[in-house]
Amino acid sequence: MEKVVLVTGGAGYIGSHTIVELQSNGFDVVVADNFSNSNPKVLTAVQTITGKKFAVENVDLSDEKQCEQLFAKYHIDAVIHFAAKKYVGESVEKPLEYYRNNFFSTINVLAEMTKHNIPFFVFSSSCTVYGEAETLPVTEQTPVQPALSPYGNTKQVIEEILKDVCHTHKDIQVIALRYFNPIGAHPSAQIGELPIGVPQNLIPYVTQTAIGIRECLHVFGKTYHTPDGTCQRDYIHVVDLAKAHVKALEYMLSGKMTDNFDVFNIGTGNPISVLEIITTFEKVTHKKLPYKIVDKRQGDVEKVWADTTKANQILGWKAEYGLEDMLNTAWKWELSLKNKKWE
Ligand code: WQD
Repeated sequence: MEKVVLVTGGAGYIGSHTIVELQSNGFDVVVADNFSNSNPKVLTAVQTITGKKFAVENVDLSDEKQCEQLFAKYHIDAVIHFAAKKYVGESVEKPLEYYRNNFFSTINVLAEMTKHNIPFFVFSSSCTVYGEAETLPVTEQTPVQPALSPYGNTKQVIEEILKDVCHTHKDIQVIALRYFNPIGAHPSAQIGELPIGVPQNLIPYVTQTAIGIRECLHVFGKTYHTPDGTCQRDYIHVVDLAKAHVKALEYMLSGKMTDNFDVFNIGTGNPISVLEIITTFEKVTHKKLPYKIVDKRQGDVEKVWADTTKANQILGWKAEYGLEDMLNTAWKWELSLKNKKWE
């Protein structure tokens, strides 16, 4: 009997790519999503890629009753929890919405897991927990810094909630994956990043500028203490990131977890600057990218990249995509979006 994985936020960018990898590795999937920041057509596209069906429930997990009904309806063996509000800037404008949604949905899911004795939980955490790290690359032991936004704070506090739950409930195993900067799209160009409105993240803004939706890319600052003055990040292909979730689940299922709570950095270990993104994108696509240097963006970390030794050695996972392929898939996805009617 295949294991059934509940993927919350499964219609989202990382969730949808993770369903593809789960189904390709023999897992059955149930998706719970309230489609507040995603399009149901993404799930149809996922089924086109895998040729396999899965149940979809339109659920607001921050509503206790809806969450209870979901877990009563399905037999679930494990949960991968993506469902969350995720925009740094928006979280500063609407902190209570972020705390209510992200905390209530996580607490409701965990409560149902303890009720139904569901033993495995993978959490979508973020490198934002490291803030402006004193030493680079960051390891999982690098001290967590005070969050720079309510969004980052929800990730930090939820990791603490998970530790407390694992301390009390020894039969639950939890892995928190600290993502660096997910970019790119599935090589089939059937699914990819779907920013709502003006993209807040760099890569969708780059591809929308290249295709003519945006006039010019604004580079937020060029006076940082980095080789070319622009911020450095650890960009990782979304498919590599999706595969890390399967590896984390398989590691828990293998019974090899020593403690019942653990965290892993999921990045490439390669720092890339904004200007390097621009020059690499132009090289790969042969498109000229109009850009302008403007003021720094409040809350931006100057530089952060991962030491991924722990995930490499314990999960047997390593990022495979190089930057050129990451940007090429992002561009192919932008081009394919033009022909889709996904309003
Ligand atoms: C990357 C770099 C910007 C846009 C955040 C969250 C992280 C995750 C990803 C959700 C920075 C620069 C950006 C633009 C620019 N969130 N930039 N012009 O801020 O590193 O990470 O998004 O999953 O948890 O913290 O990503 O893509 O916004 O920015 O110059 O129009 O690109 O200054 O240096 P960030 P980003």
